[in-house]
Amino acid sequence: MGEVITVHSFKGGSGKTVVASNLALALAMKKHNVALLDFDFKAPSLFTVFRPKKEFEFWLNDWSSGSCSILESLVDLSDHFGLPEKRLQVGFADPKGESIKKSLQEHLTPEGQASFYQHVIGDLSNLIRSGVEFVLLDTSPGFSYTSLAAILSCDRLLLVTKTDDLDLTGTTELIKTVYDAILKKKIILVVNHAPPQILLNPGEGEKLKEEITLMLNLKITALIPCYCDLVAARGRGLIVHDNPEHGFSKNIGAIAERFEQ
Ligand SMILES: Nc1ncnc2c1ncn2[C@@H]1O[C@H](COP(=O)(O)OP(=O)(O)OP(=O)(O)O)[C@@H](O)[C@H]1O
Ligand SMILES: [Mg+2]
Repeated sequence: MGEVITVHSFKGGSGKTVVASNLALALAMKKHNVALLDFDFKAPSLFTVFRPKKEFEFWLNDWSSGSCSILESLVDLSDHFGLPEKRLQVGFADPKGESIKKSLQEHLTPEGQASFYQHVIGDLSNLIRSGVEFVLLDTSPGFSYTSLAAILSCDRLLLVTKTDDLDLTGTTELIKTVYDAILKKKIILVVNHAPPQILLNPGEGEKLKEEITLMLNLKITALIPCYCDLVAARGRGLIVHDNPEHGFSKNIGAIAERFEQ
């Protein structure tokens, strides 16, 4: 039986997209059938992350507006990574400015929101019925409508936060007012962009972990340092594929194992 995992954060730039894309690929490399959907219609990223070499007919926006089925909106990228077919399918939100404006307008009206929510609820279970084991939703930060729909529809939530107070204070509110109040969902917490000193001084990492665990009342599945070579890579490539021995890839491996449990 498959499950829907929503990747979310309070503030932008915490690493949702990079974690979601690498996690999707890591799970696919471990022989799971994975679908990764770009639910950040306001600022789509997955098209740039994966740079698909093949032509495709439909964007996720077409599914969201009812012009195609969810299965038709998926692009099978398994062959890009030497995997058997349908291991890794990706639904791309259209990054063109006109399409972003159109989808923002659609998600603004109560009718548009209700229809989006119905699509999400009905069609994600269609994906699971089609044999997908993990559906990953990469969302936009904060309280946007599409993110709330993704949060309401998931089985487990992958919460990604940075370590600074701006992120942690907002994340505390998010847990209190959305996740705990409405959902009682299982939350997997990933702390990203931790100060790189924790690599040299693991004691500091342990102290940071304790402090954040106490503040958010959640156990931390992975504490990922800020890696200069990831910054230097400028968002190009997928590190779990290009460098499986990298510390970032190892952390993604630990998160993948958590989801396999
Ligand atoms: N551990 C890390 N070390 C160094 N750079 C990182 C790390 N994690 C993420 N990044 C970089 O941080 C930037 C933001 O990451 P990403 O786009 O995944 O965040 P996001 O939460 O999806 O942002 P948004 O909320 O805008 O969608 C990217 O350039 C990414 O490569
Ligand atoms: Mg993102």
